[in-house]
Amino acid sequence: MKKIRIALCSGAISFLLLSGAAMAEDACIDCHSKISPGQVQDWKVSKHSENDVTCSTCHGTEHQNADDYKKAKLPDEHVCKECHEQQFNEFSSGKHNFGWTSLNAIPATHLAPDEMIEGGRGCGGCHNMGIKTEEQKKEQTAKGYRYQNNSCDECHTRHAFSKKEAQSPYACQQCHMGYDHPQWEMWSSSKHGERWFAKKNGDLPEGAAAPTCQICHLPDGTHHNETAWGFLGVRLPLPDNKQAADDRVTILKALGVLDPKTGNPTPILDAVKAVRMAKLDQESWQKERDKMLKICQQCHSPSYVKEQLDMGDSVMMKADRLMAEAITTVAALYEEGLIEKPANYPANYPFLLTFMHTNGEKWDKDLDKLSYIDQVLLQMYMKHRMRTYQGFFHVNPDYAYWYGWNEMTKDLGEIKELAKTMRATHKKTKIPVKK
Ligand code: HEC
Ligand code: HEC
Ligand code: HEC
Ligand code: HEC
Ligand code: HEC
Ligand code: HEC
Ligand code: HEC
Ligand code: HEC
Repeated sequence: MKKIRIALCSGAISFLLLSGAAMAEDACIDCHSKISPGQVQDWKVSKHSENDVTCSTCHGTEHQNADDYKKAKLPDEHVCKECHEQQFNEFSSGKHNFGWTSLNAIPATHLAPDEMIEGGRGCGGCHNMGIKTEEQKKEQTAKGYRYQNNSCDECHTRHAFSKKEAQSPYACQQCHMGYDHPQWEMWSSSKHGERWFAKKNGDLPEGAAAPTCQICHLPDGTHHNETAWGFLGVRLPLPDNKQAADDRVTILKALGVLDPKTGNPTPILDAVKAVRMAKLDQESWQKERDKMLKICQQCHSPSYVKEQLDMGDSVMMKADRLMAEAITTVAALYEEGLIEKPANYPANYPFLLTFMHTNGEKWDKDLDKLSYIDQVLLQMYMKHRMRTYQGFFHVNPDYAYWYGWNEMTKDLGEIKELAKTMRATHKKTKIPVKK
């Protein structure tokens, strides 16, 4: 570390700065040992403290006392880059770097309370991944929020900044869990996860194979992450099978990516493209799939794993049959005027990217106009379709069937029934009495 210091601070002026910094250092630690002792303790057990990377290396020296604490610099990823350029560059080229931008590309985000976004709980608690642009930072401070400037501390929590912590699947759990992406639950209750826990408990020998999230998604210590299908589970080109192609198009319309009338791409497609939310050509999809197959082959035979992943693709097509049927059922209600098009929807068609805000309004507006049948449709897509195919890829039988496929069938049943009821009650009030 001394080497880096010398490299950063050569020359006499820097020497003076250095001794100034050293004095500030003792002050930071002295005072913060009283103010926030756990934090100082964490730093003391880190590699950074062993290597003279101190409080002021990251936070600067402008803040000196209890009153001027807002002068402390809250370091973004570029500060880490000064000494960890390789990790910074790998991270920058991966999908994690889009976390904040893709969050903000979604209409639902702007309908939610700020506490859930800039405040760092809710969507923003997990999507604080990615290097924010100056403009994004300005928007955030303008709303009165100043933390969450760094995504490196999402896996290497501060102030221990540990490598070992980030190598554990637990480091992914907070974000890769729950409603629409329960990878933690799926992995930890699959044979892959069970092996890892068995090893940890000493029930399997040290050398036994146990694939972690990192082995499959951040192989060989890289910080670059990307999968073939990704989250939305749609891509181009369309499949050869006519029905499967039609179903995919229906889903793309409900995502607002294709115009429901003309089938032409909309501006939302550009937003999706900008953050690589879906693969738009065969090559970019195949590249990631081939990488994954190689990883599986560290422990399984080639045809075994190819068959497993192919099945994931084909079950997704079958799930899409149910999904498209549900979308067209709800779309017909829009067409017939039984559901009124919310002003903020891009078309007179169901719109999945407003999530549960199915009136397209801010969270406190028009609460009487939330459309329940649209909410069931959203749940079918975000919760149950996700489980169906993600459960397959993560080798979890229960998620794939009972929490996934089975629930999709149930959603479709509910949507059909709701549509019937809506038509029946609508007729009662609208049909004029014959004389
Ligand atoms: C005399 C005591 C004192 C000294 C010296 C001191 N701090 Fe602080 N610092 C505080 C207090 C008190 C707060 C919390 C204020 C609050 O939350 O109301 C704080 C807050 C901070 C924050 C959080 C800023 C924010 O925006 O929330 C950082 C970072 C920080 N200090 C770093 C440092 C560094 C680095 C040094 C040395 C250069 C230092 N402190 C020296 C008392 C001190
Ligand atoms: C390797 C860089 C690094 C070092 C060294 C470092 N910090 Fe931090 N610190 C951070 C980051 C990153 C954040 C989070 C910033 C944000 O949320 O925007 C942070 C946040 C803080 C906060 C505000 C959040 C909270 O939990 O209270 C305080 C206070 C703080 N650091 C104090 C210290 C003190 C005291 C030291 C030295 C003992 C120190 N830091 C050393 C990187 C560092
Ligand atoms: C001034 C240089 C410097 C800065 C700035 C810096 N680090 Fe480090 N970091 C180091 C050094 C030196 C090591 C120890 C390397 C070693 O042991 O091989 C280290 C080690 C680490 C490790 C590995 C720890 C382990 O358990 O092996 C992580 C993770 C890390 N830093 C993350 C960060 C993050 C995140 C930031 C920004 C918030 C940051 N560093 C800022 C110099 C720096
Ligand atoms: C518990 C953490 C968490 C919360 C809360 C959360 N997300 Fe996510 N989000 C993730 C993770 C993890 C992924 C990647 C999942 C995957 O690929 O399966 C993701 C993926 C996405 C994607 C797709 C990005 C892409 O390129 O594929 C969008 C868009 C998105 N989230 C928007 C939101 C919005 C809007 C909210 C709030 C209404 C939200 N998220 C709340 C963790 C979260
Ligand atoms: C998604 C989780 C995740 C995020 C976010 C993350 N890291 Fe890491 N990091 C890891 C993992 C996993 C390892 C262990 C790699 C290995 O096994 O060699 C690691 C290792 C490191 C190391 C130690 C390298 C070595 O071999 O000693 C450094 C330094 C580091 N990360 C810096 C960063 C910086 C800087 C950022 C932000 C740009 C960052 N990390 C963001 C997961 C993450
Ligand atoms: C702070 C929350 C957070 C943590 C911790 C986190 N992730 Fe993520 N992850 C996200 C978000 C958000 C996305 C979606 C990014 C985007 O917009 O594309 C994502 C995306 C991904 C993707 C890409 C999926 C795709 O679209 O192709 C993979 C793979 C991934 N994460 C793996 C991991 C692994 C492995 C770990 C633990 C070492 C981890 N993540 C830790 C939030 C997190
Ligand atoms: C044995 C390898 C393996 C392990 C372990 C694993 N995954 Fe995956 N993961 C996959 C495969 C295969 C896919 C689908 C890739 C594709 O689209 O072709 C995938 C996809 C993903 C995606 C994109 C959306 C989805 O679910 O299809 C995310 C995000 C993700 N995994 C996160 C995680 C996290 C977090 C963990 C640990 C809790 C984990 N994975 C464990 C193999 C693995
Ligand atoms: C680091 C080694 C390792 C990697 C990498 C790995 N697996 Fe496994 N896998 C295992 C072990 C160990 C088992 C449990 C023993 C067995 O059934 O073979 C297992 C079991 C399985 C099972 C059977 C589960 C059951 O109930 O019988 C499937 C299917 C599977 N893996 C698919 C995959 C796929 C697909 C990939 C790549 C995405 C992959 N594995 C990557 C080690 C690995």
